[in-house]
Order: sequence, then C-alpha cells, then structure tokens
Amino acid sequence: MKLDGKNVIITGATSGIGKEAAIEIAKLNPFIVLPVRNLEKGKKVKKEIAIKSGNPSIYLLECDLSSFESIRSFAKEYKKRFCKVNLLINNAGIWERERKETKDGIEMNFGVNHLAPFLLTNLLLDEIRAGSPARIINVSSEAHRYAKINFDDPEGSNRFSSMQSYGQSKLANILFTRYMADELKDDGVSVNCLHPGVVATNLFDNMNPVLKSVFTLFMTSPRKGAETTVFLATSIHLNGETGGYYIRKKIKKPSGAALDDEAARKLWELSCRYTGI
Ligand SMILES: NC(=O)c1ccc[n+]([C@@H]2O[C@H](COP(=O)([O-])OP(=O)(O)OC[C@H]3O[C@@H](n4cnc5c(N)ncnc54)[C@H](OP(=O)(O)O)[C@@H]3O)[C@@H](O)[C@H]2O)c1
Repeated sequence: MKLDGKNVIITGATSGIGKEAAIEIAKLNPFIVLPVRNLEKGKKVKKEIAIKSGNPSIYLLECDLSSFESIRSFAKEYKKRFCKVNLLINNAGIWERERKETKDGIEMNFGVNHLAPFLLTNLLLDEIRAGSPARIINVSSEAHRYAKINFDDPEGSNRFSSMQSYGQSKLANILFTRYMADELKDDGVSVNCLHPGVVATNLFDNMNPVLKSVFTLFMTSPRKGAETTVFLATSIHLNGETGGYYIRKKIKKPSGAALDDEAARKLWELSCRYTGI
C-alpha cells in the first residue's frame, strides 16, 4: 500500500520495535509525526529513520506518556498543525518490575501502557475520523494471557506483581482495541492489535538476569519484531478488517479474558474516569 499524502503517528519510535516499524513505514512515503519524551534522542532517531528510509518528512513533538498533561499538550499541538491522522500506532510501552507511579500518581505499567494510548487515541478521534479510511494499531503482548483486569485494585496498590501489572496492561490493550473497533466500525476506521514476538529490545533492561538469559534464547531482532505492526499498517488485504489480535501476521484468538465484552465496557468506563475523557 502506498502512503503518499498520509499522516502517520507512531509512539515509542526512539528504540526497539517502534523504530524499525517507523523505518519500514517511512519507506512508503507518508508524513510521520513522532511523539517523543526526549527531544535530543528523538532528533538522532529522526535522522536515522530519514537516512534509512529515504523519507525526510518526519516531525518530532514532545510527549511524555507518563503525564496526562503532556499527552494533552501533544494532541493540542498536533491539532494546531495537522487536520487528520490516517494511521496511529500505539507502540510505546514499558515493563516496570517495581511499583512506580506516573506524574499523575498512577501505577506506571497501567498508566503508560493502557491509559496513555487510551487518552491519546480519544483526543485525536476527530482527526482520525477525518483521515478515514484510517487505521489504529495497538501493540499488545502474549503476556496478556497471564493476567485479568483487577477492577478492585487496577494499580496494584494493595499487592503489586510485575507480571500481573504488565500482563493486565497488555490485556487492556486488547479490550480497548475490541471496544474501540466496535465504536468506530461505521466511521471507516479499523482498530487492530498484535503481539510482536519476543524481541531483543530495551523492554527487558531491568529484568532479573537469570530470567533474561532464558528469554534471550527465544528473542528475535527488532526488525523481525516490527513485521506484524508493518503488516497491519500497510496490507491492502486488511481493508475493513477490525477488532483482531494478530501474531506473525495471522489473526489469533486471544485469552477468554480478552474476549469478555462486559470487562471491555467496564474498563472503558474506568479509563474515562481516570483520564477525564
Ligand atoms: N520486546 C518484546 O519482546 C515485546 C513483546 C511483546 C510486546 N512488546 C511491546 O512492544 C512495544 C514496544 O516495546 P519494545 O520492545 O520496542 O521496547 P523498547 O525498546 O523499550 O521501546 C519502548 C519505546 O517506548 C518509549 N516510551 C517508554 N515510556 C515512554 C513515555 N513515558 N513517554 C514516551 N515514550 C515512552 C521509549 O522511549 P525512550 O527511547 O525515550 O525510552 C521507546 O521508544 C511495547 O508496547 C511492548 O509492551 C514487546
């Protein structure tokens, strides 16, 4: 699929899977906006993406996904400059092993991995509809299978488990995808999500070294890890396909918890209360 004249936003493109996806997508000639929390790092990566893709149309805007104020300010700046979004890739993510909090005092995995893309996407909905046919892609994980949404304590305030916390945030990505796909089905906007594989990126930087050495045995390159994202972003065969969870470019059934429509509705309402949407 050609992307000439299209506006693309990719979060988390300063490293790992997001950077490789940005390079491949940039080769198709769209205009790309990168929300980055560190502008100095962003400038270096922008140059690298432009050189490797041959596409200089890359624009940086500051956005710290651990701050609702920063996300709102990014959306405001974007709307001032541009009137549509054709492709939004919510790729940025973290895996905090210890309980930390965002600038808004929300547990970090829940805040950055779920509430941030929830808020960003909702703030840009008019522009996404204006970009129809448009696509939204959320980068989830197979880690969603090891978790449930703990509606009594979504931030792990009483008992924090890194695996439950990260897995819950990735489960939330799928529930959000399915709910949003239904909301936008008549607007020419598709919403899909994916597991990129087990990929050698900075995501595992703080991992227990023993566990990391086991994981390393199964890891693929960031380039390979970006393939399903690029496929969902660009394949013409996916026109009209929405609400799906993909692994290795194939649709897969996620966990039972990810198919729970009542949980998706409850999570949507909870996320609205958190973000003030
Ligand atoms: N790697 C895997 O095996 C794997 C498996 C399943 C799912 N995933 C998912 O894949 C996605 C990409 O992760 P990755 O593996 O490529 O990890 P990564 O190399 O650590 O990249 C994470 C990206 O997110 C950005 N980011 C983190 N916190 C941010 C914040 N507060 N504000 C703005 N940007 C922020 C990082 O920016 P900085 O450069 O500034 O740090 C970086 O660009 C994540 O959603 C992750 O959950 C990865």
